Amino acid sequence: MDIFVIEGGRRLEGRVPVVGAKNSVLPILAASILTQERLELENVPDLADVRTMVGILRELGCDVSGEQSGGRLGIQAPAEIDPVAPWELVRKMRASFEVLGPLLARCGRADVSFPGGCVFGVRPVDVHLKGFEALGAEVRHEAGIVSVLAPDGGLRGAEVFLGTPFGSSVGATRNVMMAAVLARGTTVLHGAACEPEVVDLAECLRAMGAQIHGAGSPRIEIEGVASLGAARHRVIPDRIEAGTYLVAGALTGGRVRVEDCRPEDLSSVLDAFWKAGVSIERGADWLEVQPREAGARLRPTDITTQPHPGFPTDLQAQWMALMALADGVSIVTERIFLDRYMHLAELLRLGAHIRRQGSAAVVEGVQRLSGASVMASDLRASAALVLAGLVADGETRVHRVYHIDRGYERIESRLANLGARIRREKAS
Ligand code: UD1
Repeated sequence: MDIFVIEGGRRLEGRVPVVGAKNSVLPILAASILTQERLELENVPDLADVRTMVGILRELGCDVSGEQSGGRLGIQAPAEIDPVAPWELVRKMRASFEVLGPLLARCGRADVSFPGGCVFGVRPVDVHLKGFEALGAEVRHEAGIVSVLAPDGGLRGAEVFLGTPFGSSVGATRNVMMAAVLARGTTVLHGAACEPEVVDLAECLRAMGAQIHGAGSPRIEIEGVASLGAARHRVIPDRIEAGTYLVAGALTGGRVRVEDCRPEDLSSVLDAFWKAGVSIERGADWLEVQPREAGARLRPTDITTQPHPGFPTDLQAQWMALMALADGVSIVTERIFLDRYMHLAELLRLGAHIRRQGSAAVVEGVQRLSGASVMASDLRASAALVLAGLVADGETRVHRVYHIDRGYERIESRLANLGARIRREKAS
């Protein structure tokens, strides 16, 4: 298993391009199942999670061509699909559950294992299943497998509510949307998730011939069509990757320009940076953290994670790393995944002063962090540890970096290009 060895204390300086959004490309790859014709994708990130999804598609008989490392993939689903997604692949990543909607729409039935993925708290799929039931499907689960069966004559349009106590479910919105595009009649999704990745999927489906209106709002209307066809689609930039590199610049006090991103997707995050006293210049597709005077500290700034356009839960851990060095106390409140605090104990090892209070964390900024060995536990928690390592005195060793490889394309070479001292080693 690889580890990262980081020597902290370097101001980052330079430009870093953002790749395609992990949370967009995974469901879009699943959407390729909906047609027998070819789906051509551009701006595909080279990530472990993408390889997992490609593995599932190949297992289902899809022809996948192109170079993932070159950003392009072409996928063509076969005429006949055996709609069974095996546990060995599905357990690796929660997003693989999003093949269920497309398989159900295309084949009239599907068997998919309960998903795996990042392990923060209980992550149910009840809203996904309720949505399929609303479209007329029969849902059963037995021995860790969810089986869904469309009614005679196929799925039929319906009114579906997708809210959860924590806001809308992003995954359920996409899964049910993909099932509904081939249903008979009109489906209205109420309480739909408004994340940019939902809109990107809808755009891809529209390019394939689907009739979808209102994506990006809480009410999405879908007029079912008989079939979908070939399309070409460019995946949107990853706003979480962009936000992570902005935090890297702000933490180290350097000038970091994040390129090929969409500033409009990061409004709540930019607002938090502004409150923290981080100056960020912006253009149409770039953001640049401005350098900070040596010794000047950031203002403590509270954040609460919320559905889009609120502060994203996927940047909560990175923000906590930033506030660990702020000049005072800030409160980080998690409202989407109440137990998403695995990074907290590891940040303590680096000398941070943070304590948990219910679903919030109280972060008392300290003057300095000091390097230590820490354990990556989930994707974004691990990114927070790498960020903290960039400013900790001495050497930080981040173990189990495969979590980071799931969602960041070669983070160590991107940070090294910005001047960080970071290297990947095989753990002995
Ligand atoms: C997606 C993102 C993930 C992000 C999350 C929230 C992908 C591949 N992953 O995950 O990076 O952190 O959105 O923005 O896009 N819930 C239920 N029942 C359900 C489904 C969800 O109660 O059936 C709850 C969840 O436990 C959670 C909340 O709803 O508290 C939001 O989860 P959801 O939006 O579904 O997250 P994912 O789609 O899994």
